[in-house]
Amino acid sequence: ADAITILGLESSCDDTAAAVVRRDGQGAHILSSVVYGQTELHSAFGGVVPEIAARAHAEKIDLCVTEALERAGLALADVDAVAVTAGPGLIGGVLAGVMCAKGIAAATGLPLVGVNHLAGHALTPRLTDGVGFPYLILLVSGGHCQYLIAKGPEEFTRLGGTIDDAPGEAFDKAARLLGLPQPGGPSVEVEAKMGDPRHFRFPRPLLDRDDCNLSFSGLKTALLRTRDQIVAEKGGLTRADRADLCAGFQQAIVDVLAEKTRRALRIYLAENPADPVLAVAGGVAANGAIRAGLETVCTEMGVRFTAPPLKLCTDNAAMIAYAGIERFAKGERDDLTLMARPRWPL
Ligand code: KG4
Ligand code: ZN
Repeated sequence: ADAITILGLESSCDDTAAAVVRRDGQGAHILSSVVYGQTELHSAFGGVVPEIAARAHAEKIDLCVTEALERAGLALADVDAVAVTAGPGLIGGVLAGVMCAKGIAAATGLPLVGVNHLAGHALTPRLTDGVGFPYLILLVSGGHCQYLIAKGPEEFTRLGGTIDDAPGEAFDKAARLLGLPQPGGPSVEVEAKMGDPRHFRFPRPLLDRDDCNLSFSGLKTALLRTRDQIVAEKGGLTRADRADLCAGFQQAIVDVLAEKTRRALRIYLAENPADPVLAVAGGVAANGAIRAGLETVCTEMGVRFTAPPLKLCTDNAAMIAYAGIERFAKGERDDLTLMARPRWPL
């Protein structure tokens, strides 16, 4: 197959990113991947502030593009197309990326390819591991949680997902409740390593329901209640209390994800895939305990488990460039009427 080289742009949440990815006969290669995070800008507010995010994206996106091309050792004339996240996400951020990509396309005549951010995450196992369709993918991030059977670059069957919070959101809220730094996932994981997951018992929501839907908001309420109970009894939380709370909270999420994954795998395996694979993507896939729980289920069920390297699990533009390559290879293009879509289900 002819090589395809694409410049990708991502700005849908709180990372401004650009990357150059090439796919040739040997596979996909990330030639460069630049990510400017905004965590510090939002840290005082306990969450991503859309207006601050949009301004920071608008300020940084050109720089990201320049750096990505420079590190790849390429000029715009060397790429075949510009791919950009067109949604879902915060409208101001998505617009910053879409406008920049349109500007490049208008100025150079390069084709424009709009990419769904979730498709970017969902196709990452193909970029990193060359996984073939169909595979089951669990998307777990700060904003998303769903099981998809990936059947083609733009063909996904959704088996279920969260009915309220995403797990990353739950980790972030848990950290806030316990006075731990944001983003909450990594800080809760560090604390959990020092705690006893059986000391405090947390609910396992929706396990009584025989589907692939999940719920995490009750878990956060349970954590709040247990914390307040300890504070009422002892006047405050000890280091050990905090570690035990984190361990119990994380274990509940691990258990729920493991059991729902078992159910999703049963549905997927019923379709008799030749080389069954469970892939995981999204920021929460960075969690070691969650990865281990999923790996155990896969071993149990004779399914290969794959997780992209951490920096490709969290938001980045390499996954957008790669998803762009898959669309471009199918002959699909957008034009300058491409719209930013804050809501865009797969
Ligand atoms: O995919 P991502 O970078 O952004 C989107 O939400 O799209 O995911 C960020 C989320 C945050 O909620 C963060 O707390 C969570 O991923 N996260 C983790 C870990 N590292 C990041 N959650 C649990 N354990 C971790 N080690
Ligand atoms: Zn994301």
